[in-house]
Amino acid sequence: MSEPLTLPDVVHDAPAVSPGPVEPGSDAHRVLFCRALLDTFTAYCPSVEGWPALDAEARARLAALPIWDMAVSTERRAGARVRAFAERVADPLLRQAVALNAFEEERHERVLTTLAAAYGISVAPPPHVPAPRDPEWGYLRTGYGECLDTFFAFGLFDVGRRAGLFPPALVAAFEPVIEEEGRHIVFFVNWVAWHRRNMPAWRRPWFALKVALVWLTLLLERLGLVVGALRGEQGEATFTATGARTFDVDLDAAGFLRLCLAEDARRLGAHDPRLLRPRFMPAVARLACRVLEGLPRRRAVAPGS
Ligand SMILES: [Fe+2]
Ligand SMILES: [Fe+2]
Repeated sequence: MSEPLTLPDVVHDAPAVSPGPVEPGSDAHRVLFCRALLDTFTAYCPSVEGWPALDAEARARLAALPIWDMAVSTERRAGARVRAFAERVADPLLRQAVALNAFEEERHERVLTTLAAAYGISVAPPPHVPAPRDPEWGYLRTGYGECLDTFFAFGLFDVGRRAGLFPPALVAAFEPVIEEEGRHIVFFVNWVAWHRRNMPAWRRPWFALKVALVWLTLLLERLGLVVGALRGEQGEATFTATGARTFDVDLDAAGFLRLCLAEDARRLGAHDPRLLRPRFMPAVARLACRVLEGLPRRRAVAPGS
């Protein structure tokens, strides 16, 4: 992707939603979640020159992260899938919001490729992504995939920041990507709720089946990630899991999940309280914490025993 990045004009005439409760699926709900995305757009153009200077040690640490190929490919797929879905949305405000989401995914790819170029990190060319036969399936797959990955990315980003492995200027330069993923997943779960309530009754069972199949696909991918990670492979689904092992910090699995939960609550808590939040990953993480924290602690082995 070497052509200049053109920032979209974010202009709409949707009136602000008045204070008070908003019924999921209502017209006010549609305006609320579309405006939440559109009105928080940040205009920036990533460039090779825009990345801060790093000393040799920090540059080597960054280059050694085993995520670059898969991160760029993941953003390429997300951009293509969300763009394809935007083109079939009929409602103008919703279409503008989904198209903005697509633009931000395309910009994430640009963030990563300019970062790689700035620090001399080689990245494999991303795959060609054919237009999905079913754009709704493509958007559901990207949306739920982001709900899974962003939960861990929140924690991972904070672990990296606390560990002080990279200068604050680099952390700050990457912060918009993490923030935008949070906006995307809030937008996505609200769109799912609105879409489900606004489709004809006969379509709902088919849509529920489609969502179940998307989750099955994602879970099988993540299962593949465990096998792939054990073999040392990179893949779309290993993005956050591989990164998690890269930071050598004193944090057990439950501690990491607690951190993800705290970051998820902090970041998504900043959105309008009337908007829905992704619930699946926080619920799974809370359950996993209870299980892990209930396990008997491994006793230290006394020397000579
Ligand atoms: Fe993205
Ligand atoms: Fe995203």
